[in-house]
Amino acid sequence: MTPLNTRRDFIVNTGKAGAGLWIGSTLLSSCSVLSKASANKFATGFQQQPLPYSYTALNEAIDGTTMEIHYTKHAAGYATNLQDAAKNEGVDTNKPLEDVLGQISKHSTKMRNNAGGHYNHELFWKTMSPNGVEKPSGKLSTAIDESFGSFEAFKTQYSDAGKNRFGSGWAWLIINKDKKLRIGSTANQDNPLMDLPNGQAGVAEIKGLPLLGLDVWEHAYYLRYQNKRADYITNWWKVVNWNFIQDRYQAAL
Ligand SMILES: [Fe+2]
Repeated sequence: MTPLNTRRDFIVNTGKAGAGLWIGSTLLSSCSVLSKASANKFATGFQQQPLPYSYTALNEAIDGTTMEIHYTKHAAGYATNLQDAAKNEGVDTNKPLEDVLGQISKHSTKMRNNAGGHYNHELFWKTMSPNGVEKPSGKLSTAIDESFGSFEAFKTQYSDAGKNRFGSGWAWLIINKDKKLRIGSTANQDNPLMDLPNGQAGVAEIKGLPLLGLDVWEHAYYLRYQNKRADYITNWWKVVNWNFIQDRYQAAL
């Protein structure tokens, strides 16, 4: 068993006792609560995990060449640079990455960019699947309807967050500390877990646990879609992995 697998198994196994502890009512206001992520199967490590499908599996929305370059070059680079930053700043890489993100204001710009880049991409791969269902069901479906009016209204608002993000960044669906769903976006590789002050340029409009993230950097779509980000977003909905997002939402309640 490789060290990477050992770590992942540790997270999964300890997660059995910690299900439902992902966030409490004070997720982002308490580092101690954030540290409970270490006992959750959704905790993120510092190593790049295997892509859960082939490079061509999502061809309906994203071509294989884009996926391969995205995963092996861009995302792999964030993971490598994150480990370098962690070494330089004395961060314990056996702890969940969420702990670092929740205190990112204490770290360097290199840590901010690469911890965010690594976390965002690890989540991104998991929130897509070639075998997904078209829409959520159960509690998440109900919560989306209550928060946004309907699933179609949610898709429109979320798509707009991605289309309107100037330059490079991400669109997000999050659950906040009041356990409400919110949509927003961030610039560059920032995300809603980061303890960055509101109002700072590029900082998330929302704070909370990301359930769904959409990469709108040009490297995510340029080969097939060129400048047509809106077309990329339209097709991306076809490969969203709602079963995974539902599980993540349920664990956060
Ligand atoms: Fe990316």
